Amino acid sequence: MLVNATNMLKAAEAGHYGIGAFNTNNLEWADAILTAAEETQSPVIIQCTSGAAKWQISYKVVADIVKQLIEDKNITVPVALHLDHGTYEDCFKCIEAGFSSVMYDGSHEETFDINMKKTEEVVKAAHAKGISVEAEVGGIGGVEDGVAGMGELADPKQCKAIADLGVDFLACGIGNIHGLYPDNWQGLSFDTLAAIKAEVGDLPLVLHGGTGIPVEQVAKAIENGVSKINVNTDLQVAFAKATRAYIESGADQEGKGYDPRKLLKPGRDAIVARTKELICQFGSDGKGWA
Ligand code: 13P
Repeated sequence: MLVNATNMLKAAEAGHYGIGAFNTNNLEWADAILTAAEETQSPVIIQCTSGAAKWQISYKVVADIVKQLIEDKNITVPVALHLDHGTYEDCFKCIEAGFSSVMYDGSHEETFDINMKKTEEVVKAAHAKGISVEAEVGGIGGVEDGVAGMGELADPKQCKAIADLGVDFLACGIGNIHGLYPDNWQGLSFDTLAAIKAEVGDLPLVLHGGTGIPVEQVAKAIENGVSKINVNTDLQVAFAKATRAYIESGADQEGKGYDPRKLLKPGRDAIVARTKELICQFGSDGKGWA
């Protein structure tokens, strides 16, 4: 069933487990994530960036794919469809297109005041339709931005100010980075996480850049207030590795091995397997309607 992400994340925060938010790119991706969630009886967040929505033509196509898959695959666990790192305009497009959750990423706005003002407007519009909202304080760097060693650390007072706008969950930098972590990465800052948590209370926090963070650090983050873990690159790597193995084995040149359904199957199966593994690692397996 398509739901917003508020209740599933509140339950995760209270129960000290995490819910995976996995990025989708196409039909196979969404199908694989839903299969993994159903097989592990876990609530799940499927999220989509504006770039991945463009690839799939529009936010409406993404929403229709996910909604129809939920129905036709008889998915029984709660599923939220979430906009990942949206601009102000993207949030309104997704609200119209049928997403059940949006992230307004105002961390790139010129000032914190602009981030506050736009977050407030998105919260108002989204909540009027029962849609949950994620906001962001501070930036989450990426290796591609030339950030090495340490991701940004959010200001706990700013986190509190944004939390007070009524957002449903909050992304805040605690040293995490998108993409693969550089060798000299210093790890998550649990002091920063504790300081933010002390300000925002039981508001669920979001850990971006879930790919490549050591398992023990993810577990410690969940124990200390992180409830949503974003994973994108990890599944891309799993898909690419399985597809590469299929082609390198020469299977695409045997019989009708070139059939796109055969060609894409190993990658799709790899996403199912890896998503199930991550769901169990985050502890949301069996928490379907917790
Ligand atoms: P990774 O690609 O590092 O897993 O990050 C995903 C993410 O944070 C999406 O918002």
